[in-house]
Amino acid sequence: MSSYAEVYANWRNDPEGFWAEAAKEIDWIKPAEKTFDPDAGVYGKWFTGASCNTCYNSVDRHVENGRADQAAIIYDSPITGNKKTYTYSELLTEVNALASVMRDKGIEKGDRVIIYMPMVPEAAISMLACARLGAVHSVVFGGFAASELATRIDDCAPKMIISASSGIEPGRIVAYKPLLDEAIELAASKPQANLILQREQQTCDLVDGRDFDYASLVDAARSAGVTIECVPVEATDPLYILYTSGTTGQPKGVVRDNGGHMVALKWSMKAIYDVDPGMVYWAASDVGWVVGHSYIVYAPLLHGCTTILFEGKPVGTPDAGTFWRVISEHNVEILFTAPTAFRAIKGQDPNGEFIGKYDLSKFRILFLAGERADPDTIHWAEDKLGVPVIDHWWQTETGWTIAGNPMGLGQLPIKYGSPTVPMPGYHMQVLNDEGEPLGAGELGNIVVKLPLPPGCFPTLWNAEERFKDAYLSEFPGYYKTADAGYIDEDGYLFIMARTDDIINVAGHRLSTGGMEEVVAAHKDVAECAVIGVADQMKGQIPCGFLVLNAGCNREHDEIKQEVVSLVREKIGPVAAFKSAMVVQRLPKTRSGKILRGTMQKIADGMEWKMPATIDDPAILDEISEVLKQQG
Ligand code: COA
Ligand code: AMP
Repeated sequence: MSSYAEVYANWRNDPEGFWAEAAKEIDWIKPAEKTFDPDAGVYGKWFTGASCNTCYNSVDRHVENGRADQAAIIYDSPITGNKKTYTYSELLTEVNALASVMRDKGIEKGDRVIIYMPMVPEAAISMLACARLGAVHSVVFGGFAASELATRIDDCAPKMIISASSGIEPGRIVAYKPLLDEAIELAASKPQANLILQREQQTCDLVDGRDFDYASLVDAARSAGVTIECVPVEATDPLYILYTSGTTGQPKGVVRDNGGHMVALKWSMKAIYDVDPGMVYWAASDVGWVVGHSYIVYAPLLHGCTTILFEGKPVGTPDAGTFWRVISEHNVEILFTAPTAFRAIKGQDPNGEFIGKYDLSKFRILFLAGERADPDTIHWAEDKLGVPVIDHWWQTETGWTIAGNPMGLGQLPIKYGSPTVPMPGYHMQVLNDEGEPLGAGELGNIVVKLPLPPGCFPTLWNAEERFKDAYLSEFPGYYKTADAGYIDEDGYLFIMARTDDIINVAGHRLSTGGMEEVVAAHKDVAECAVIGVADQMKGQIPCGFLVLNAGCNREHDEIKQEVVSLVREKIGPVAAFKSAMVVQRLPKTRSGKILRGTMQKIADGMEWKMPATIDDPAILDEISEVLKQQG
């Protein structure tokens, strides 16, 4: 029997009492004056008046309470052939040493530090060192290009950037340092110092007086045995900024505070993931994404678990058995990844032959998120692994599950295609475009009644008006998730599509608007539309439709190649923008809006209706024709 209904009802009856109880799991320097203050911030703030330190709760307290010799982080890197385990006490030493180096370079509470690194333990150590000093980190995913990094540098004005000489992708070494140098060149705001981790696969030159060698400075601080006290911060102070795609090329700086974030993540580990302290938990994601922040670094460490930091891919490093090797070698009980990783594995090992080669007896539950989990993938994983496969739905903005199947409260029946039910903290509604509530089974805008629970973003960095405009103004009193879907008669949520121009490519969130801005800047492109088309492995991939300037008589293939390169150069390889086609005109409404939704349906071979507002119906036939020619 699941206690979910009772727990959810307890929260509805007394939200503040519910979170005050959960907050007892955190060590506070000073307890909250108010569990929730509705007058603080834009929609209220959690745990006002409290002071705390996230690094203390993630590391120090476990060393003090008997976990000093337990593994905190296991770094497993099939792409380099390296493995390394850090106990909680070793992690504390590393964090102390780095925090001391950072302080020597002038980093104080409230300063921003950008972390632009591959999946190495130093990335997590850097996050924790920032938290220790009360500095605000902003991790930028390594697959983004220099200009994306520059935009983030200008937005959060970091005093320091911590980076590495190189990252390793299958078949190629990604030189990070030239990207970093170019970004600093492009940005108006300049960091005072860079700490660079030299990797043996490819080192880089350091600029005198500006770039410093991570290892030698940290080695010296470690040898000197320097310790840095955890700096008390307000529960409502920012722990980090994580940029995520908005509808334009200007990303949104999602702010996460310290107190509510710790409370929500700590609660989630038992209730949602059914994990106890001391167990091994693995989120196969990247520290550059929200899943990496919450479930590679903070939640497992707050809970006293062992977390796995995996530098590799589900396939090709070296084969489709890597996940099973890691699970069996490190006694992983819980794996959390994106469905696309399973589609990649299934594509290479459809019969699951690699699975049989490893002892997976400790493995208990597979969690999926980041994109819609298609029932085929879930069935395959259930069948081949023989463990529950649990879909759950969340966003960078929320930082933890909005809807899921809380395994620690007792599993609820699974409905394929649904991430199950709302978690405590989330009062869900489905509204039509006029803001009126819809009934069971009716498709509409999924919204959350304010206030959002602890752990969710209180605002966007330096952009409070954008925060209100993007999320709160369309449906007053609610947070707009920008996902469309419905709630069925049993209260199960079904998430069907985004209501904006965000697409989900291999579990990565990308803005087609941002890509259009880049494509439109090509000298031969008069106008363009980028849409997400269905892809068997990645879920969606972007596809550009280009209308060329009148009189342009260059080879279309050449222009397409240039546009593809431009997106890779400006946004990064992660955009996976590889397909562009030239069309005569774009279909538009009479008021000039491009009919991207209809184009997407045509491209996906779905049924579509001629929009009543279309300016010239013949254009859709032209688009269908071009798509047919491209196959
Ligand atoms: N640094 C530099 N480049 C990177 C990068 C990084 N950290 N991560 C990805 N890239 C590059 C890839 O090398 C690839 O480049 P290419 O065009 O030269 O091949 C491009 O960005 C696209 O990467 P990706 O979308 O990851 O595709 P892929 O074909 O390399 O791998 C999967 C596909 C499904 C195996 C991979 O996306 C995956 O493991 N996804 C798991 C999901 C996940 O981590 N989601 C995060 C949220 S839970
Ligand atoms: P991100 O902010 O990168 O985590 O992406 C969030 C978006 O990914 C959501 O708004 C959804 O569109 C999509 N998403 C994440 N998880 C799921 C899920 N379990 N089911 C359906 N869509 C999901």
